Amino acid sequence: MKQGRFKGVFEQRKGRRNNILTRNLTPGKTVYDELLVREGKNEYREWNPKKSKLGAAILKGIKEIGIEENSVVLYLGAAYGTTASHVSDIVGKKGFVFALDFAPRVMRDMVFVCEERKNMAPMFFDANKPEEYKDKMVKEVDVVYMDIAQRNQTEIFLKNVDMFLRKGGYGLLALKARSVDVTAQPRKIFESVRRELEKHLKIIDFKILEPFEKDHCMFVCKKGG
Ligand SMILES: C[S@@+](CC[C@H](N)C(=O)[O-])C[C@H]1O[C@@H](n2cnc3c(N)ncnc32)[C@H](O)[C@@H]1O
Repeated sequence: MKQGRFKGVFEQRKGRRNNILTRNLTPGKTVYDELLVREGKNEYREWNPKKSKLGAAILKGIKEIGIEENSVVLYLGAAYGTTASHVSDIVGKKGFVFALDFAPRVMRDMVFVCEERKNMAPMFFDANKPEEYKDKMVKEVDVVYMDIAQRNQTEIFLKNVDMFLRKGGYGLLALKARSVDVTAQPRKIFESVRRELEKHLKIIDFKILEPFEKDHCMFVCKKGG
């Protein structure tokens, strides 16, 4: 297994493609039927870029992800824990992932993922109301990651960044253009969101996620200070 561009993210050649993988924190167990790959004493989980926007952004060559060993991450829109579980692998036993979602159906499954993964906690809240969970987590996090398809995605993201992200920390926003406005051209939406983000944060990189995800992009930002 080859160490990839980011610590904790590995690469393996498969035919003509480069696959990415994370080292499994819970050997023998899968989260979304991903393939497990054994090498020596270690076990790795294949990271499917069609099921994870962060995986897609890494394969598209994003410059930084800000998530590393020991990071504390607030993950908004964790759903069944697909991407959040890879983040949990990367941050490792001394890091932590607050995995938030407001849908009861997905939460039921995610609770089981969190039971297996001691560095993940389920948070059953609306990301639009951070004041309701501010006493349920640490004061500051190293990374705010958001993947929720809402019309006011940028506003929700900035609220959480403002409230929880430490200075120098990273904010990652997976943006779905069609949720902001179904009629507008995705590129126009990406541009207007970029202008809004730039008022508050330094934009480190931006990638359109096609061919893995249609009409989505990923922003990687840094909080000044
Ligand atoms: C595209 S899915 C997330 C997929 C996940 N990030 C992954 O890669 O595994 C979007 C999730 O956002 C959640 N969501 C949407 N609006 C939300 C809100 N205001 N607060 C919390 N969760 C929300 C939905 O319930 C859904 O599970």
